[in-house]
Amino acid sequence: MNLLLMGLPGAGKGTQAERISEKYNIPHISTGDMFRSAINEGTELGKKAKSFMDQGALVPDEVTIGIVKERLSKDDCERGFLLDGFPRTIAQAEALQTLLTEMNQAIDHVLHVKVPEEKLVERLSGRRICPACGKAYHVMYNPPEKEGICDRDGRELIQRDDDKPETVKNRLAINIEQSQPLLDFYDERGYLVTVNGDQDIDKVFQDIQSIIEK
Ligand code: AP5
Ligand code: MG
Repeated sequence: MNLLLMGLPGAGKGTQAERISEKYNIPHISTGDMFRSAINEGTELGKKAKSFMDQGALVPDEVTIGIVKERLSKDDCERGFLLDGFPRTIAQAEALQTLLTEMNQAIDHVLHVKVPEEKLVERLSGRRICPACGKAYHVMYNPPEKEGICDRDGRELIQRDDDKPETVKNRLAINIEQSQPLLDFYDERGYLVTVNGDQDIDKVFQDIQSIIEK
């Protein structure tokens, strides 16, 4: 099963991806998470990505397509994969189509998690993540058992650099602009399914499962 998760920043892609990946046993591939790991490790890729991410801008296509190509060639993708936050441009979508044809694979569903724009700032400003495992929480909607501490590994939670107010506005504006052509791209090809992301986390996951299992 090959799935794509789309949605604006804060829509809940990562939150749902964690559940989908566990339930259907397919790797969760988030370009944002890959860039954040590279930044933490201080690699060349991280250095390239950081300046764009700090402005809320997209990392250039050739860099992003390159890392996805490499990741999809790993053995664990043979049984399927879940892409979160890729593609984000038509050039990326076209590169993915070519790559999938080469791999003799196809997309099953493009899940668009839709949340009213006015709710996203609150989701982003209240998000806290674990610097070690990347798990995301929300101070109100999805708090950890112990305040400020990751349930999984006991690390102190932090705020993502691009969740700070000075970046959020730009990031949302850029994403709103680039998302529609991509939604149209997948709608025209019959892959797009819209999921109401403005519900309880468990309810959103139930709706996703019904789509997958239909
Ligand atoms: P990326 O990491 O993908 O960020 P994003 O798209 O901005 O999305 P987020 O991760 O912010 O949101 P999410 O939808 O995963 O929400 P989450 O589940 O955490 O990308 C970061 C940057 O990397 C980009 O800006 C760009 O620079 C670069 N990049 C990445 N991919 C790229 C690409 N393909 N091309 C070029 N550049 C790329 O949830 C958010 C919060 O809400 C959490 O606190 C969560 O607990 C809470 N929450 C989740 N669901 C619910 C719910 N149903 N109800 C209430 N609260 C909820
Ligand atoms: Mg995410």
